Amino acid sequence: MDPKPKQPVTVTIDGQEVTVPEGTTVLEAAQRVGIPIPTLCHDPELSNPGSCRLCVVEIELNGRKMRNLPPSCVTTVSNGMVVQTLTETVRKTRKKILELLLANHPKDCLRCERTGNCRLQSYAYEYGADFPQSGSALDGERQNYAVDDSNPFILRDMNKCILCGKCVRACGEVQGRFVLDYAHRGFATRVAPEMDRELRDTACVYCGSCVSVCPTGAIIEKNKVGKGRAWDIGKVRTTCPYCGTGCNFDLEI
Ligand code: FES
Repeated sequence: MDPKPKQPVTVTIDGQEVTVPEGTTVLEAAQRVGIPIPTLCHDPELSNPGSCRLCVVEIELNGRKMRNLPPSCVTTVSNGMVVQTLTETVRKTRKKILELLLANHPKDCLRCERTGNCRLQSYAYEYGADFPQSGSALDGERQNYAVDDSNPFILRDMNKCILCGKCVRACGEVQGRFVLDYAHRGFATRVAPEMDRELRDTACVYCGSCVSVCPTGAIIEKNKVGKGRAWDIGKVRTTCPYCGTGCNFDLEI
Protein backbone atom coordinates (compact mmCIF):
# COMPACT_ATOMS: atom_id res chain seq x y z
CA MET A 1 0.00 0.00 0.00
CA ASP A 2 1.25 3.47 -0.91
CA PRO A 3 2.20 5.56 2.13
CA LYS A 4 -0.21 8.40 2.93
CA PRO A 5 0.82 11.45 0.86
CA LYS A 6 2.34 14.21 2.93
CA GLN A 7 0.16 17.29 3.34
CA PRO A 8 1.67 20.71 2.58
CA VAL A 9 2.32 22.89 5.63
CA THR A 10 2.80 26.67 5.43
CA VAL A 11 4.95 28.50 7.98
CA THR A 12 6.47 31.97 8.22
CA ILE A 13 10.20 32.17 8.90
CA ASP A 14 11.74 35.60 9.48
CA GLY A 15 8.79 37.12 7.61
CA GLN A 16 9.06 34.76 4.61
CA GLU A 17 6.24 32.32 3.92
CA VAL A 18 7.32 28.83 2.97
CA THR A 19 5.28 25.75 2.14
CA VAL A 20 6.87 22.36 2.84
CA PRO A 21 5.63 18.78 3.26
CA GLU A 22 4.45 17.81 6.75
CA GLY A 23 7.23 16.25 8.79
CA THR A 24 9.78 18.78 7.56
CA THR A 25 11.85 20.28 10.35
CA VAL A 26 12.02 24.01 10.98
CA LEU A 27 15.73 23.86 10.10
CA GLU A 28 15.01 22.25 6.72
CA ALA A 29 12.22 24.74 5.99
CA ALA A 30 14.55 27.64 6.81
CA GLN A 31 17.28 26.19 4.61
CA ARG A 32 14.78 25.90 1.78
CA VAL A 33 14.38 29.69 1.72
CA GLY A 34 18.08 30.33 2.27
CA ILE A 35 17.92 31.30 5.95
CA PRO A 36 21.02 29.99 7.72
CA ILE A 37 20.73 28.48 11.21
CA PRO A 38 23.94 27.34 12.97
CA THR A 39 24.25 23.62 13.73
CA LEU A 40 26.88 21.48 15.42
CA CYS A 41 25.30 18.05 15.98
CA HIS A 42 23.03 18.01 12.93
CA ASP A 43 24.01 16.26 9.70
CA PRO A 44 21.43 15.61 6.96
CA GLU A 45 22.97 12.17 6.30
CA LEU A 46 22.68 11.03 9.93
CA SER A 47 19.98 10.60 12.58
CA ASN A 48 19.20 13.68 14.60
CA PRO A 49 19.85 13.72 18.36
CA GLY A 50 19.10 17.44 18.85
CA SER A 51 21.82 17.51 21.46
CA CYS A 52 23.95 20.64 20.93
CA ARG A 53 20.99 23.10 21.06
CA LEU A 54 22.84 25.66 18.92
CA CYS A 55 20.03 25.70 16.36
CA VAL A 56 17.43 27.11 18.78
CA VAL A 57 14.83 29.53 17.41
CA GLU A 58 11.77 31.42 18.70
CA ILE A 59 8.43 29.92 17.68
CA GLU A 60 4.90 31.28 17.92
CA LEU A 61 1.99 28.92 17.31
CA ASN A 62 -1.71 29.86 17.35
CA GLY A 63 -0.73 33.33 18.57
CA ARG A 64 1.21 32.00 21.59
CA LYS A 65 4.96 32.17 21.89
CA MET A 66 6.62 28.95 23.10
CA ARG A 67 8.25 29.53 26.48
CA ASN A 68 11.37 27.55 25.65
CA LEU A 69 13.52 27.99 22.58
CA PRO A 70 13.09 24.73 20.63
CA PRO A 71 15.96 23.29 18.59
CA SER A 72 14.98 23.76 14.96
CA CYS A 73 16.66 20.54 13.76
CA VAL A 74 14.22 18.32 15.68
CA THR A 75 11.10 20.51 15.67
CA THR A 76 8.69 19.79 12.84
CA VAL A 77 6.64 22.50 11.17
CA SER A 78 2.92 23.06 11.85
CA ASN A 79 0.47 25.14 9.84
CA GLY A 80 0.55 28.81 10.84
CA MET A 81 3.80 28.54 12.80
CA VAL A 82 5.77 31.80 12.98
CA VAL A 83 9.51 31.34 13.44
CA GLN A 84 12.16 33.95 14.28
CA THR A 85 15.67 32.66 13.77
CA LEU A 86 17.77 35.57 15.01
CA THR A 87 16.16 37.62 17.77
CA GLU A 88 18.23 39.10 20.58
CA THR A 89 17.14 36.21 22.87
CA VAL A 90 18.20 33.62 20.28
CA ARG A 91 21.55 35.33 19.73
CA LYS A 92 22.28 35.55 23.48
CA THR A 93 21.28 31.91 24.00
CA ARG A 94 23.54 30.68 21.21
CA LYS A 95 26.41 32.75 22.58
CA LYS A 96 25.95 31.19 26.04
CA ILE A 97 25.81 27.66 24.56
CA LEU A 98 29.09 28.33 22.74
CA GLU A 99 30.70 29.72 25.91
CA LEU A 100 29.65 26.59 27.80
CA LEU A 101 31.33 24.46 25.13
CA LEU A 102 34.45 26.64 25.24
CA ALA A 103 34.56 26.34 29.04
CA ASN A 104 35.88 22.80 28.61
CA HIS A 105 37.91 23.25 25.46
CA PRO A 106 41.67 23.68 25.04
CA LYS A 107 42.75 27.27 24.34
CA ASP A 108 45.09 26.22 21.56
CA CYS A 109 43.27 27.61 18.52
CA LEU A 110 46.45 29.36 17.35
CA ARG A 111 48.17 26.06 16.70
CA CYS A 112 45.19 23.72 16.26
CA GLU A 113 45.17 21.87 12.91
CA ARG A 114 41.52 22.81 12.39
CA THR A 115 41.95 26.55 12.80
CA GLY A 116 40.10 28.27 9.96
CA ASN A 117 38.10 25.10 9.33
CA CYS A 118 36.45 24.58 12.71
CA ARG A 119 32.72 25.13 13.16
CA LEU A 120 33.07 25.83 16.86
CA GLN A 121 35.63 28.53 16.12
CA SER A 122 33.54 30.05 13.30
CA TYR A 123 30.40 30.23 15.43
CA ALA A 124 32.34 31.63 18.38
CA TYR A 125 33.52 34.41 16.06
CA GLU A 126 30.02 34.97 14.66
CA TYR A 127 28.34 35.15 18.08
CA GLY A 128 31.13 36.89 19.97
CA ALA A 129 31.68 33.95 22.33
CA ASP A 130 35.01 33.65 24.09
CA PHE A 131 36.84 31.31 26.43
CA PRO A 132 35.60 32.09 29.96
CA GLN A 133 37.80 34.50 31.92
CA SER A 134 39.64 32.91 34.78
CA GLY A 135 37.55 33.20 37.95
CA SER A 136 34.27 33.75 36.03
CA ALA A 137 31.19 31.61 36.66
CA LEU A 138 31.94 29.38 33.67
CA ASP A 139 35.60 28.87 34.47
CA GLY A 140 36.02 25.45 36.03
CA GLU A 141 37.47 22.00 35.73
CA ARG A 142 38.71 20.87 32.30
CA GLN A 143 39.27 17.43 30.85
CA ASN A 144 42.81 16.26 30.34
CA TYR A 145 42.72 13.14 28.17
CA ALA A 146 45.69 11.54 26.49
CA VAL A 147 45.67 11.96 22.70
CA ASP A 148 45.04 8.65 20.89
CA ASP A 149 47.95 8.48 18.48
CA SER A 150 47.93 4.68 18.31
CA ASN A 151 47.28 4.15 14.60
CA PRO A 152 48.80 5.43 11.34
CA PHE A 153 45.81 7.43 10.06
CA ILE A 154 43.64 9.09 12.68
CA LEU A 155 44.48 11.34 15.60
CA ARG A 156 41.86 11.54 18.37
CA ASP A 157 42.08 14.37 20.89
CA MET A 158 39.02 14.05 23.09
CA ASN A 159 39.90 17.26 24.91
CA LYS A 160 38.56 19.01 21.79
CA CYS A 161 35.39 16.90 21.55
CA ILE A 162 32.07 18.71 22.07
CA LEU A 163 30.08 15.44 22.32
CA CYS A 164 27.98 16.20 19.25
CA GLY A 165 28.08 12.46 18.49
CA LYS A 166 28.41 12.84 14.71
CA CYS A 167 31.41 10.47 14.67
CA VAL A 168 29.44 7.87 16.67
CA ARG A 169 26.54 8.03 14.21
CA ALA A 170 28.75 8.11 11.08
CA CYS A 171 30.68 5.06 12.29
CA GLY A 172 27.53 3.07 13.15
CA GLU A 173 24.79 4.33 10.83
CA VAL A 174 26.86 4.91 7.67
CA GLN A 175 29.77 2.50 7.97
CA GLY A 176 28.11 -0.16 10.14
CA ARG A 177 31.29 -0.52 12.23
CA PHE A 178 29.97 0.72 15.62
CA VAL A 179 33.52 1.26 16.86
CA LEU A 180 32.78 4.57 18.59
CA ASP A 181 30.23 5.23 21.31
CA TYR A 182 29.68 7.36 24.39
CA ALA A 183 31.48 6.13 27.48
CA HIS A 184 31.23 7.07 31.16
CA ARG A 185 28.79 9.61 32.59
CA GLY A 186 28.28 13.24 33.52
CA PHE A 187 31.39 15.42 33.27
CA ALA A 188 33.46 12.32 32.44
CA THR A 189 31.34 11.46 29.37
CA ARG A 190 33.46 11.04 26.29
CA VAL A 191 33.42 9.37 22.91
CA ALA A 192 35.56 6.27 23.01
CA PRO A 193 36.12 3.06 21.08
CA GLU A 194 34.68 -0.15 22.53
CA MET A 195 36.03 -0.92 26.02
CA ASP A 196 37.97 2.37 25.95
CA ARG A 197 40.63 0.76 23.74
CA GLU A 198 42.97 2.60 21.47
CA LEU A 199 41.75 2.78 17.89
CA ARG A 200 44.33 0.32 16.58
CA ASP A 201 42.89 -2.38 18.87
CA THR A 202 39.34 -2.11 17.52
CA ALA A 203 37.41 -3.04 14.36
CA CYS A 204 38.16 0.43 12.90
CA VAL A 205 39.02 0.25 9.19
CA TYR A 206 40.23 3.88 9.09
CA CYS A 207 37.55 4.83 6.56
CA GLY A 208 37.74 8.43 7.77
CA SER A 209 33.97 8.92 8.20
CA CYS A 210 34.49 10.16 11.74
CA VAL A 211 37.14 12.60 10.53
CA SER A 212 34.90 14.00 7.80
CA VAL A 213 31.99 14.80 10.14
CA CYS A 214 33.89 16.10 13.20
CA PRO A 215 33.11 19.83 13.57
CA THR A 216 36.23 20.57 15.68
CA GLY A 217 39.82 19.34 15.88
CA ALA A 218 38.88 16.30 17.99
CA ILE A 219 39.35 13.76 15.18
CA ILE A 220 41.74 14.65 12.40
CA GLU A 221 43.75 12.96 9.67
CA LYS A 222 47.22 12.28 10.93
CA ASN A 223 48.97 12.73 7.60
CA LYS A 224 47.70 16.31 7.34
CA VAL A 225 49.29 17.44 10.58
CA GLY A 226 51.77 20.22 9.89
CA LYS A 227 51.01 20.19 6.12
CA GLY A 228 49.31 23.59 6.01
CA ARG A 229 46.39 25.60 7.29
CA ALA A 230 42.84 25.37 5.90
CA TRP A 231 43.37 28.46 3.72
CA ASP A 232 46.56 26.96 2.21
CA ILE A 233 44.82 23.82 1.05
CA GLY A 234 42.72 23.52 -2.13
CA LYS A 235 39.93 20.99 -2.63
CA VAL A 236 39.04 18.96 -5.71
CA ARG A 237 36.02 16.70 -6.24
CA THR A 238 37.27 13.20 -7.05
CA THR A 239 36.61 9.48 -6.67
CA CYS A 240 38.28 7.44 -3.96
CA PRO A 241 40.70 4.91 -5.50
CA TYR A 242 41.04 2.62 -2.48
CA CYS A 243 38.25 0.04 -2.22
CA GLY A 244 36.57 0.19 -5.64
CA THR A 245 33.17 1.31 -4.34
CA GLY A 246 33.50 4.58 -6.22
CA CYS A 247 32.56 7.05 -3.47
CA ASN A 248 32.94 10.70 -4.41
CA PHE A 249 34.63 12.97 -1.93
CA ASP A 250 36.50 16.26 -1.63
CA LEU A 251 40.23 15.65 -1.71
CA GLU A 252 42.39 18.28 -0.07
CA ILE A 253 45.52 19.09 -2.07
FE1 FES B 1 20.08 21.22 16.40
FE2 FES B 1 22.41 20.46 17.46
S1 FES B 1 22.01 21.25 15.50
S2 FES B 1 20.47 20.57 18.41
